[in-house]
Amino acid sequence: MRLSECHNIDDFRLLAKQRLPWPVFDYIDGAADDELTKARNTAAYADCDLVPDVLAGVDEIDTSVTILGRKSALPLILSPTALQRVFHWQGERAVARAAEKFGLWFGISSLATVSIEEVGAMVSTPKMFQFYYHKDRGLNRSMIERCKAAKFDAIALTVDTIVSGKRERCARSGFTSPPRFTPSSALSYALKPRWALDYLFREKFALPNLDTHVSEGTGQAVSIAEYFNTMLDASMDWAAAERLREEWGGTFCLKGVMSVADARRAVAMGADAIMISNHGGRQLDGSRSPFDQLPEIVDAVGGQIEIICDGGIRRGTHVLKALAAGADCASGGRLYLYALAAAGQAGVERAIGLLQDEIVRGMKLMGVTRVDQLDRTRLRRR
Ligand code: LAC
Repeated sequence: MRLSECHNIDDFRLLAKQRLPWPVFDYIDGAADDELTKARNTAAYADCDLVPDVLAGVDEIDTSVTILGRKSALPLILSPTALQRVFHWQGERAVARAAEKFGLWFGISSLATVSIEEVGAMVSTPKMFQFYYHKDRGLNRSMIERCKAAKFDAIALTVDTIVSGKRERCARSGFTSPPRFTPSSALSYALKPRWALDYLFREKFALPNLDTHVSEGTGQAVSIAEYFNTMLDASMDWAAAERLREEWGGTFCLKGVMSVADARRAVAMGADAIMISNHGGRQLDGSRSPFDQLPEIVDAVGGQIEIICDGGIRRGTHVLKALAAGADCASGGRLYLYALAAAGQAGVERAIGLLQDEIVRGMKLMGVTRVDQLDRTRLRRR
């Protein structure tokens, strides 16, 4: 399979599987427990149908939205995801450049393999920093200061990783950060020599936003579960989130809100946005899908805070359904990660280009010229 043969996100997934050693592919593709939530995140979109209008004169359409105070050319954010250098040697740089090309928001994780400073200087497209609240207060302070200096546009505090989800594929493969050489992993690398050569001989893997303070994840190989469970602060609460927001002083988002009660607290604390998210099904398996949970959150806090529907998006029509259900914007990680793993920047550009085409085509077929014309009258639950 070649890049030119990828016509949808599932095609990129197959190409990524072809290219990556299985522990790396399973880290991206895998989720928690029985992976029910991961599957439901996408399946939820199929339980709901779009109702098109016709004869609407859709020659010229505008796909843009303003989200978190910045304009985005599409109602789609490239959610922050960790460790991108492991998936493709171009890593976060590829995603940043592709986001800029399409005029989109994107994010980097605290566990990014490129520094806050480099990303800040590299692209002018809006960028968010996915903040993991660590036990090490000095590290937390350092990340905030670095984001301020590098003029990041928003911080998204991850609130759904208070302990790690049970990622059985990672437990089986022994995936660690940085990837470790064991007899079984070495075999998986040997079977994917192009990946192995890129990994070994291109720029060395690093987590430059963390390694100033901790060696776990860089100097010391640990699983992501061990990282979450030992480095992150499980005592994090609303007071901690408020202190962080104050310290940052800029646009602030909570990533991983699922309940109406928490959405109300997010409004009360003055957050600018919530990402309704279950971390791609990687944390609490059995958690509801963001799309299923969206209507009750929109009914409770819509108009008081921006609502981003994160996860499960594989199609332009999924984005349109999320908007029709009341989200201000959609977002996703795997939708570009498979493409990054498959073909670096060219892959990410092709994936976003396909989603852009699908959004444009879908809007025209729906008979809307602006995304704010999509509302609940255009959706039916089965
Ligand atoms: C994950 C984190 C690192 O593996 O976002 O889900």
